[in-house]
This record gives sequence, C-alpha cells and structure tokens, in this order.
Amino acid sequence: MIKPSIIDDIKMAMDIVEVVSDFVNLKKSGSSLKGLSPFTAEKTPSFYVVPSKGIFKCFSSGKGGDAITFVMEFDGLSYIEALKYLAVKYNIAIEEEIQTDEIQAAQNQRESLYIVLKYASNYFQKMLKSNEEGKSIGLTYFKERGFSDEVIESFNLGYSLNVWNNFYQEGLKKGLTKENLEAAGLVISKENKVYDRFRGRVMFPIQNVTGKTIAFGARVLSSDASKNQPKYLNSPESQLYNKSKILYGLFQSRQQIRQDNNCYLVEGYTDVISMHQIGVKNVVSSSGTALTGDQVKLIRRYTQNVTVLYDGDAPGIRASLRGIDILLEGGLNVRAITFPDGEDPDSYSKKLGATAFNHFLIEGAVDFIKFKTSILIEGIKDDPIKKAGVARDIVESISKISDSIKRSVYLKECSALLHISEEILIAEHNKILITNKHFNQRGSQNVEASVSLPLELDEIEATDYSKIIAYQEKESIRVLLNYGDEIIQKSNNRRIKLWDYFIGESEDIEFIHPTYNKIFSLMIQRNNKKLPLNIEYFLSIEDPEIQKTVIELCAPKYEISEFWREKYQIEVPLEEDFIKDVTYSNILRFKFRVIQHLIEVQNEKLKTAMEGEIDSLLDEISDLKQTEMEIAKILGNVTVK
Ligand code: GTP
Ligand code: MN
Repeated sequence: MIKPSIIDDIKMAMDIVEVVSDFVNLKKSGSSLKGLSPFTAEKTPSFYVVPSKGIFKCFSSGKGGDAITFVMEFDGLSYIEALKYLAVKYNIAIEEEIQTDEIQAAQNQRESLYIVLKYASNYFQKMLKSNEEGKSIGLTYFKERGFSDEVIESFNLGYSLNVWNNFYQEGLKKGLTKENLEAAGLVISKENKVYDRFRGRVMFPIQNVTGKTIAFGARVLSSDASKNQPKYLNSPESQLYNKSKILYGLFQSRQQIRQDNNCYLVEGYTDVISMHQIGVKNVVSSSGTALTGDQVKLIRRYTQNVTVLYDGDAPGIRASLRGIDILLEGGLNVRAITFPDGEDPDSYSKKLGATAFNHFLIEGAVDFIKFKTSILIEGIKDDPIKKAGVARDIVESISKISDSIKRSVYLKECSALLHISEEILIAEHNKILITNKHFNQRGSQNVEASVSLPLELDEIEATDYSKIIAYQEKESIRVLLNYGDEIIQKSNNRRIKLWDYFIGESEDIEFIHPTYNKIFSLMIQRNNKKLPLNIEYFLSIEDPEIQKTVIELCAPKYEISEFWREKYQIEVPLEEDFIKDVTYSNILRFKFRVIQHLIEVQNEKLKTAMEGEIDSLLDEISDLKQTEMEIAKILGNVTVK
C-alpha cells in the first residue's frame, strides 16, 4: 500500500512537536513540552512531548508513543491512515487521486467511510463548479450571498443536483458500494430503491480537526425555502460523525485561534464562513445544536478564551445561556457579544464591512457576568424576588469556575451589578459549592487528582509488599533507561558508566515483573555486546508491552522541580543533578528487598523448626534485621526529593 521507502521518508520528516502542536497547545517545560491532554478533560497539564526522543506521553489517559501513534490515537486512524495524514502534512507524495481499489484495500469500515466521504465532497464541489445546474443555481446562490471564490474553496462548498440519484449512480461507477454510501449517510435505500439523501441543496462539508470530511450540512436554496422542508439537512450520525463532538470550522480556524488565543463561537455555518471572508479566522460553530462538554474540550486544545456571538433575538439568547455554564465548567474564560436585533455574524459583517465589524467585535465583548445579568435583568425592573432569582442564577454560573480567585472577582462584580451585598452572594455561592461537592463525591472524580504521575515510594503502604517490589523495579528500569549510559563519578573518584555501577552493586538481583525483567535481560544482552542502552533500541522492539513501558518511563518525572523553579525561583535539583544518589538508593532498595525476603523465609522456617535449629535461626534473623535497619537508615538520607 505505502512503499517502505516512503514510510521511511515519512518517519524521517515527522517531528513530534510539529505534529502534536497542530492539536495541542504546548509550552516548554525543561527539556520537554507539556500541555493539556487531548484525550481527557484534564485541567492541569499532564501531557508531555519529549522532542529529543520523538515521543509523547499522556499521564491522564496512559497513552503514549511516537508521532504516528499520536495521529492514530488522536483521530482514531489506522496505521496507514496516520501515515497518509503525515505524508500530506510533510508534502511527501504517496499517490494522487483516490483510487477505487483503495476501497478494497481499506482496512476497516472507518477507513472506507473516509474515502467515500472524500469522494462525495469532491463530487459536490465538481457539480458546483462545472455542472450547468450547479453553476446556474448553486454557485449563483453563493455569489448572491456574497461568498468569495476563496471561501468557497477553503470550505470546500459544493452543490447536490436536484435529481433522484445521480450521485449514487456516479459513485457505483467509481466502484463505491451501496453499503458504504449508505453507512456514510449519503444515500437512502427504501423498498429496493436507492436515492441520494441530498438533492438540490448547497453543500457544506463538515470536517474534523484534521480536515477530513465526516458529514455534510446541506441548505435549501432560497427559492425552495417555502416548500415546507428543513432549511438545513444534515448527515445522520455515523461511525465518523458524532455531532456533539464536532465544531464546524475548527479545521480552518485552529491556527488562528491559537495565534489570537481566543475563539469566537457562532451559531451557523454561514457565520463561520462570512467571518473568515472578512478576515476574522478564529471562529467555530456548534451548528445549531446546544453546546456540549466535548466541544468545549475541543476548543480548549487551542485556547482558554471564548467569545460567544449571540444572534440578536432575546428568546434565542435566553435559550442558549446554558452554553455559558458548559464553557465555564470546561475551564474557559467566557465573553459574549450580542448582535443587533435580526442580525447574525453573517449578515452583520456584510453590513458593516471589515473595519467596522472588527471594531464591533472588540467594543461589543463583555464578560459573561455583565452579559448574563443584562439579559436576565431585562424587564424585571426592581422586583426583589425576581432579582434574587437572577442573582442565584448568576452565582450558579460563577460556581462552575474552578479557579477560586476568578470566582471571588466575579462575585464582587455581580454584587456591584445587582446591588446585592457581596456577603450574601458568597454565602449563596458556598451553599452551591457544598451541595455540588456532595453530589460529585461519588463517580465523577476530580480530574486533577486522577493524574497519575509515577508514585513516590512513601505514598505506597509499607505493608504492600508486591507494590513496593513493582515500584523498585520500575524505578530501576526508569533510571537505567534514561541515564544508563551516563558517566558518574564514584566516591573514590573513579569514573564509571551508571549501568556498570548498577550491575556491580546489585548482582544476583532478579526482576519479578515480567516486562521489567524482559527489559532488564535485554539491557544485559546489549551491554554484553558493548552497545548503548538507548531508548530508540527498546522502542524498535516489536513488543507492545515493552514499547509502552519504555515510553512511560521516559517521560519526564521531576516536573515539580521545574514548576518550583519557574514559579518561585527556588532551585530544586533536577533528576540529572542527583542521578548517582537515585541509583544508589535504588540499589539499596533492592538489597533491602532481598533482606526482607530472607527474613520472611527464615520466619517461615522458624514455624516448623526443630528445637536445635531455633537458636541459629533467631540469630540469623536478628542479623538480617540489623542490616535491614541500617539500609533503612541510609535510605532515609539518600532519598532526595
Ligand atoms: P442562513 O440562513 O443560510 O444564513 O443560515 P445560518 O447559518 O444563519 O442558519 P441559522 O442562523 O438559521 O441557524 C443556525 C444553524 O442552525 C445553522 O447553521 C444550522 O447548523 C442549524 N440549522 C438551522 N436550521 C436548521 C434545520 O432546519 N435543520 C437542522 N438540522 N439544522 C438547522
Ligand atoms: Mn444567517
């Protein structure tokens, strides 16, 4: 399918930071980069990219791997699809047009759906540009609405002919199957007849963040608008299209959203397109459905700031206020703009032109408190009961914010706006927090708390023997993987490779955990051949368990140190700085473990010992305990944290 030489080219070209940065906001953090996990709704970053190793590791989901794995995980792609995506990104030619035998080659249904939808998108675009009906009806419609060729192109707009099943027939000729076309929601079969779902409509392809078409929105033309059919007809949900997890325009807008560190949220397809046309390119739409937590998660990959643009009709705004709470719950800073009555971003941008529209966006944005207050307070005059209701409603929104400082600022603002004392609002707010906490105690765990950085030994119950062993083995492998080839200086000033030091000090040690044991034996093999222990070697071993473990253990651990360094200018040693101590304490822990094991064995023997044996057993045990204590004492001193 893809020639091995091309796969090599792709692997050479791909850069983990570039690939991940298209979807995740990364900030430098020591020698690695970190950001919010694109796989979970975490609020504290635990997603790491280690450029020097070409890997990523997400502690909140446990996922990790190279750039190809990232694309696969992120977009649910197969290996081949991921390679194709990367080939496009790095301008590496694989093959041009869609080949219909690609369908046969598709490894799974998702892959064939992507191909079918890509075909459909191309077909509808072709109809718009070169078919007589398409040109005279579809293209004319877009032109009348003032859409430029540029946006028609960048949003891949198209047209579906007003006939029974031309699209279906053409598709069959190209080798697509009825089953695939139906699964993609493009055709409908009824009583042995198959017809096109979309007929006589202008077509808005809905793309995922990687730019792949996954569904369509299709608008009736103005002349048909009266004929009692829905204005927009959307593809049904499919294996690829889940409307609550998609934001229209995100693919075209994501770079700008990151650059401006703000995202405009609008209601419709045409709003997104018109704003792009006028030069405001950080805009997405939830396309008519109520905003969902999944969509908020999508936005948060690119920015923490959202400005919601509300069409100017009051009942509509009231109905969509819930969206604000969802944004706040997702940890976003929310501002809002209301358009004049009867206007939406599409119409108003055309009315004002670029300069005035930009000015309007800047001047018109207010924080969500002011916005919500002004909407809710309308028409209630000074009715105290209704006013109390408004206050409660707003405090409810404020309580969704996870940042306590922001909460208190907003409570103050709310108090000023509503002329209600701050104390009362705070009391109300606390009541809500307590109730919610009570509710949340079971089930939905705090995301921050569920981030699983490597455990520190003292977090493990001292009696949980198997966990202690697993921890020690993991730590040893981690240290060896990361620093095994490094040269350290022993106390007698001799310089020695850390790996040799480890082996020298810890003979006879057997790893119990099968994966760590495998890695350890491989290390010994490598070392016997005088080859370096580097990570690339372990990643090239075709054993998913080994790969996963190695990736996990190579992600940076001492982030906390970096945090302190940055935030409080307090120097905390990085792991590199005390690696010798880390190794030493590891070895000691190993010995400690062996001794504890021996004590256990002797104790067992004691149970069934004959009279004459008891004394010597007790002596041995006492000696072992002495050593155990000594090691414990040193361990207490060398465990640098
Ligand atoms: P224009 O009238 O072409 O300017 O469209 P618009 O994008 O301004 O649409 P409108 O403000 O009427 O609706 C906002 C969004 O709601 C649209 O972009 C659609 O995603 C969705 N929508 C509107 N009408 C319908 C409908 O009849 N069916 C469905 N499924 N969605 C609709
Ligand atoms: Mn409109």
